[in-house]
Amino acid sequence: MSVKNIHVVIVLFSLIGIETINVQIQATPSDGILGQTSLQLRCSYTAVTGEYVTGATIQAKINGQFKNIATFYTPSVPLNASLTTDGNYLTNRVTLTNPTTNMIDSAVIQFSQIACADENEYICQVAYAGSDGSTSASSGVANINVKGNPKQPDSVPSYVPSAGIEEGNDVVFKCTGNVGKPQGRFKWMRYRRNTNGDTLQETPYESETTTAVQMTGTCTFNGSSQLTLHMEQLDTNAVVRCQVIYQDVPQGSLYRQTDGINVYYSVRNVQVTKSPIIPTFTEGAGLIILTTCTSDGNPAVTNTGYTWYKEFNTSVPIWTGPTFFITNVVVNKTYNYICVAQNSFNGQTFKMINSIHIQIDFTTTTYSTTITKTEIVFTTPNTSSTKRDQEGSTMVIPILVALVVVLSVLQLGEIISLFILHKKGIVKFKTGKDIQIYEDVNRRSTEKHVYSSMNRAAESENSEYNEIH
Ligand SMILES: *[C@@H]1O[C@H](CO)[C@@H](O)[C@H](O)[C@H]1NC(C)=O
Ligand SMILES: *[C@@H]1O[C@H](CO)[C@@H](O)[C@H](O)[C@H]1NC(C)=O
Ligand SMILES: *[C@@H]1O[C@H](CO)[C@@H](O)[C@H](O)[C@H]1NC(C)=O
Ligand SMILES: *[C@@H]1O[C@H](CO)[C@@H](O)[C@H](O)[C@H]1NC(C)=O
Repeated sequence: MSVKNIHVVIVLFSLIGIETINVQIQATPSDGILGQTSLQLRCSYTAVTGEYVTGATIQAKINGQFKNIATFYTPSVPLNASLTTDGNYLTNRVTLTNPTTNMIDSAVIQFSQIACADENEYICQVAYAGSDGSTSASSGVANINVKGNPKQPDSVPSYVPSAGIEEGNDVVFKCTGNVGKPQGRFKWMRYRRNTNGDTLQETPYESETTTAVQMTGTCTFNGSSQLTLHMEQLDTNAVVRCQVIYQDVPQGSLYRQTDGINVYYSVRNVQVTKSPIIPTFTEGAGLIILTTCTSDGNPAVTNTGYTWYKEFNTSVPIWTGPTFFITNVVVNKTYNYICVAQNSFNGQTFKMINSIHIQIDFTTTTYSTTITKTEIVFTTPNTSSTKRDQEGSTMVIPILVALVVVLSVLQLGEIISLFILHKKGIVKFKTGKDIQIYEDVNRRSTEKHVYSSMNRAAESENSEYNEIH
């Protein structure tokens, strides 16, 4: 037999595992989760006839070199498995188990707690006696990856400015916290809500950058992300949420969110409605005209934030409060009635106006028709209402109830009158400028007539407008 042929035979024997001992190492599972327990590092050997295993070591790469961290013995050497000096970092975190036979068995490191240091490369070396005397055989390399689960963000997102936020402000939100290992990230959500806290609109912000640094003492990442939002009226009471995304999966419960954000905005959308909604009122029919002003704003316009004026005399308010009613319906109360609504924040006051025309004519047949209809539809018992009656009519309360219903049904009338008012111009201005603006807006051909009526009405007027409580 030639030298070459002998080599071929040896290679063949090695490949089919008959020639000599086989050693393997395996981590199960290969991913360890920080703090959790189920991880086993198993060194297995299968000896061939005539070989006799005496012990094994498991080695980890320390400073670039494989170092023995744990030593194991077979039954022929009556010693317990033990950690070496290099393996001391595993103390109290692992259980070592010796193999029980010399031929085919395994040495095991069972982890009861995973630390960052366990992420490493491992090999196993088996000492055995064979036909050639004592020698050793090594396994290939097994890896343990250590993962760290993320945690809830450190706190609810902070934001700047943190108070006095106005419509139009840019607000910067910030979120920090453990985003895990491998490094996760933060996702932002904005939930616009109504005043009841019901979500009206949900907007994700996925592409905000998360920067992260590995935390000292642990291998997980402390992430940090910012979101800048341009605040609008609709962001009043919105909440902003910061949520952890780990391994591309949003972590359901790992989020923190702000409370409702207060976004100030100036008064707007001032609407004046009358009730009943009829084009013309008739003098002396015992009816009460209800006039109501509504608006939008944050802070909301308070009761005393509504002031009423008659067109052509905006120097003296005729009423303060969202609602007044005209109890003495006489021709000389035909006016455009102006409502001024105001709110204030951050040291500024904002005003917005709108108006409604109340036309009162002398008796015609049109009016009694309208009243009859009202009475037919709303014939409610009025036993307890007399106390509130202003001018002897026992129908005041039922009619008022009816008028509120009619008011909500007949939105169309409002829309038309609003359109007309819009044509006249809804004016926004600051404190102190209001009077001039009204008068500019309201120059009209009927001025003379109304003005002279108004002067006559002036002395007794205020007692004739009453707020509803
Ligand atoms: C091996 O450990 C057991 C308990 O784990 C102990 O009772 C025994 O004495 C130890 N044997 C040696 C040789 O250290
Ligand atoms: C992350 O870093 C921030 C500072 O940027 C710090 O305030 C926060 O406590 C850190 N979070 C954790 C979980 O270490
Ligand atoms: C308005 O008309 C009523 C009834 O017609 C009358 O009693 C009242 O004096 C008038 N007011 C003024 C200021 O003219
Ligand atoms: C407005 O009404 C008040 C009192 O009601 C009166 O004193 C004042 O002169 C009136 N102004 C004009 C311009 O008519």
